[in-house]
Amino acid sequence: MYQQRNILDNVFYLGSSDRRLNLFENAFPVPNGVSYNSYLVVDEKTVLLDMVDKSVSKAFFENLEHALGDKKLDYVVINHMEPDHTATLEELVYRYPEVTIVGNTKTFTFIKQFFTFDITNKTLEVKEGATLSSGQHTFSFYMAPMVHWPEVMVTYEHEHKMLFSADAFGTFGALSGNIFADEYDYKTEWPAEARRYYSNIVGKYGPQTLALLKKAANLDIDYICPLHGPIWREKEGISWIIDKYSHWAGYIPESDDVVIFYGSIYGGTEDASNHLAAELAKRGAKNIKMYDVSTIDPSYMLAEAFRAKKLVFAASTYNLDIFPKMEILIDDLIAHGLQNRIVALMENGTWATTANKKMKELISGMKNMTILEETVSIKSSLKAEQMPEIEKLAQAIVDAN
Ligand SMILES: Cc1cc2nc3c(=O)[nH]c(=O)nc-3n(C[C@H](O)[C@H](O)[C@H](O)COP(=O)(O)O)c2cc1C
Ligand SMILES: [Fe+2]
Ligand SMILES: [Fe+2]
Repeated sequence: MYQQRNILDNVFYLGSSDRRLNLFENAFPVPNGVSYNSYLVVDEKTVLLDMVDKSVSKAFFENLEHALGDKKLDYVVINHMEPDHTATLEELVYRYPEVTIVGNTKTFTFIKQFFTFDITNKTLEVKEGATLSSGQHTFSFYMAPMVHWPEVMVTYEHEHKMLFSADAFGTFGALSGNIFADEYDYKTEWPAEARRYYSNIVGKYGPQTLALLKKAANLDIDYICPLHGPIWREKEGISWIIDKYSHWAGYIPESDDVVIFYGSIYGGTEDASNHLAAELAKRGAKNIKMYDVSTIDPSYMLAEAFRAKKLVFAASTYNLDIFPKMEILIDDLIAHGLQNRIVALMENGTWATTANKKMKELISGMKNMTILEETVSIKSSLKAEQMPEIEKLAQAIVDAN
């Protein structure tokens, strides 16, 4: 049964949420679900902006059919060819054979790779700044390569100042009735999942995201309509999410907080990490967070590394190398281009302790990481005589800027 959700009288929200999905992209846990957003502008010509994942295709086609009424579908704009937004393309073309597919050169290459149906005479290729009119609405297209994939573009509707932003400004988390950010307590509801979405999905492409933010700065924006998560429509919320994106895309920490990541087999490194956390707290550090790399999914820890300025890595030695779950985390941070952090290292070993050296090698390859000279090296378990070293490390972390 269709749902009618309007953004404006003639602009419809056709999306839906999946709360059953275990892993987004078969990689990232989504305990809060995820929404797939699609939009329809009904005008002299009808324009569909992006589609949905196959998991919510039934709801999407019901919503589309209802919103179109007796009108035919004239255009489908494909801002992003990833299957979470285009799995329904072939069925769309079967249902609405007269539709024209709007995209750029790369979009059409990707359509031919993902599908076998014939797109001859069904396409309208657009370049940077090209416009399309549907009657009362004018759309401009701006390329946003690598704001997830190379074919990504965004679409700006001039009359109502709406930016259809593809994956940019998206977030994990299902929509529960409310589709607008201002219908939620968005400053508490969305930052953690928006940050986890951005850092894991787009995080590697900070410079490209900054380029998109620069283009967006030249546009007067009253609505941001992303492909996942809520729609942003009031100035305060729009500024808030753009400010978050400026930090994330620029690899600028949001706070001076300390986050301790520890990897421990028997508990010795964990014990030392707990002592370090207490010493940090005694010296005034607040909001300290500790994560056991063996139990927390890396996607959450990556997001925390994008948020906080000071990162502690504490690991036991494992076959003359780093405890593997810690190495996975550090590799993940490297793969997503994390920069500009203050790093402290702590290691543990019973016969040949090498974790600090190995972690330092990895982290030294990252951009603008300040690795503190003070380190701690534990022999199997923390003893009272080593507490001054932990205290010194805590002081160095608090003092670092
Ligand atoms: C598979 C395996 C490999 C290990 N390899 C090393 C090693 O190469 N060098 C070393 O000093 N200790 C090695 N250890 C021992 C631990 O690093 C050491 O006992 C450490 O104190 C454990 O810290 P934890 O209590 O935080 O787990 C290894 C342990 C395991 C289980
Ligand atoms: Fe994507
Ligand atoms: Fe997506």
